[in-house]
Formats: sequence, C-alpha cells, structure tokens
Amino acid sequence: MAEEKTNAEKKAAEDALLATKVVRALKVRKTYMLGGETLHALNGVDFSVQRGEYVSIMGPSGSGKSTLFNMIGGLDRPNAGRVYIDEVDIASLNSFELAWLRCHKIGYIFQSFNLIQVSTALDNVMLPMVFAGMQQADAQEKAARLLGLVGLGERIFHKPVQMSGGQQQRVAIARSLANDPAIVLADEPTANLDGKTGEQIIDLLRKINKEEGVTVITATHDHKMLVASDRIAWIRDGQVERIQNRDEIEIKEGHARVIK
Ligand SMILES: Nc1ncnc2c1ncn2[C@@H]1O[C@H](COP(=O)(O)OP(=O)(O)OP(=O)(O)O)[C@@H](O)[C@H]1O
Ligand SMILES: [Mg+2]
Repeated sequence: MAEEKTNAEKKAAEDALLATKVVRALKVRKTYMLGGETLHALNGVDFSVQRGEYVSIMGPSGSGKSTLFNMIGGLDRPNAGRVYIDEVDIASLNSFELAWLRCHKIGYIFQSFNLIQVSTALDNVMLPMVFAGMQQADAQEKAARLLGLVGLGERIFHKPVQMSGGQQQRVAIARSLANDPAIVLADEPTANLDGKTGEQIIDLLRKINKEEGVTVITATHDHKMLVASDRIAWIRDGQVERIQNRDEIEIKEGHARVIK
C-alpha cells in the first residue's frame, strides 16, 4: 500500500513536471527530397521548453532552425518523432484543430515582418482576432492596447511603408500577441534591423516574456539575443548539440564563450 502511494506520488510529480512543458519535441526528423537526394534537415531533435521561459536557438545558416520552428509552430509535419504543444500531440489533430491551435496558442514573428502593406498597424494587429471570431469593436480596442504595449500608441493608423523597420517589427510583435498565445515563435526577429534597433526589439521580447508571461522561443544568429535568454539550444546539422543556461556562457563584444 505504502509503495502504491509512493508510485502515485511519483506519477503526480511526473505529471506536474510535464505540465510545465509548453513545447516538447521528441526525436523529430525532417527530410526533404532535393534533386533525387535526401536532405536531413532535422536529424532526431529532442528539445523542450518550460512555460514562461525565453529560449534561443542558435546555429549556423542551414542548421535547421526554421525547419524546427515550422514543426513547433504546426506549419509543417515531421517525418518521424513527435511534437507536443501544451502536452497535445499535434500529429493527433485534424486540420481544424491544428488551425485552432495555430491561431490561439502560437504567435509568429518573422525576420521580414510579414505585415499587410496596404493595411494600417491597427488593422494588421486586429486581423488574427477577427479570424478568431472576435467582435470588431473588441478587436479594435485590444489591438490599440497591444500597439500601446509595444510603444506605438501614436501610430496605430500608420501603414507599414510609413514606418521604420523597428516600428514594423513592433507591429508584428503586437500582432503575435493578438490571441493571447502561450508561445511566441520569433524566427530571426532582429536580422533585418540595425544593432540598436535590434536591441530594442530584444528588450521588448524580454518585456512581454516577463510581464505578460508569454513563453518566447527565438531562432537567431544575433549574440545580443543570448543576453536576454534563459537558455540557449545550439543546433548544428539538424541536431541539438548542447543546451545551456544563460549563466554558463560569457558574452563579449558579440561573441559567446562557454565558461562552465
Ligand atoms: N522546403 C525545402 N526544401 C528542400 N530543402 C529545404 C527546404 N527547407 C529547408 N531546406 C533545407 O533544410 C536545411 C535546414 O534549413 P533551415 O531553413 O531550417 O535552416 P536555418 O537554420 O533556418 O538557416 P538560416 O539561418 O539560413 O535561416 C537546409 O539545408 C535547407 O536548404
Ligand atoms: Mg532560418
């Protein structure tokens, strides 16, 4: 009996631990066929993220960062392995359920902002809420609040062409938060920005992580991003080489050095 209870307690502790994992990728493989050859973009990736963490995925060009994002974001399916979002195996979802998950659980930020050029900042941020079925007036109010949060309260009626790159990326960040996602996936969000603007965007991502409690996962080449991250996953040739806590690396003049 005593042992039974211990097992039950163990199970409860395991469940509690799993419940804090907002993303879990298990042995994920993705291959592409290219000119008759098989290209292994992801080669058995194991990777998990705790709720509320800020994690960066660092790795050279072609190492598989965007491919991994596509898997975590439910934009593409692995050839093998499993991806769990909030402990739901996304392979078990039908196309409607997957669309719901993408719309409500995940916010996306891209290197090239991906805003609708003919629409105002307000309309860009409203769009995912309208898709999700929110009333126009409520969506407008929330979009204005989110644009205020990213420091664009004065520019809600500006269109992307009337904004700087940094301002456009702020609009994209506000849009990513539209449906209160559990996770924001940011694929090289500072790559098209100058150093100082990039730092402001990193500060903003850190702020939404800390103040709004949103889990942030970025793919990046930008060593400044490491300073903001709780953990860093180093990826090479489609595999996670190592995962480190922020305090295990020293960052100097844009270069990272392992100190533990
Ligand atoms: N749709 C596709 N068809 C064929 N090969 C692809 C496709 N998408 C990605 N790849 C290949 O998979 C590998 C991983 O690409 P991925 O875009 O994930 O790299 P990345 O780490 O994001 O690179 P970068 O830092 O340049 O954005 C690369 O060799 C790439 O050429
Ligand atoms: Mg990429």
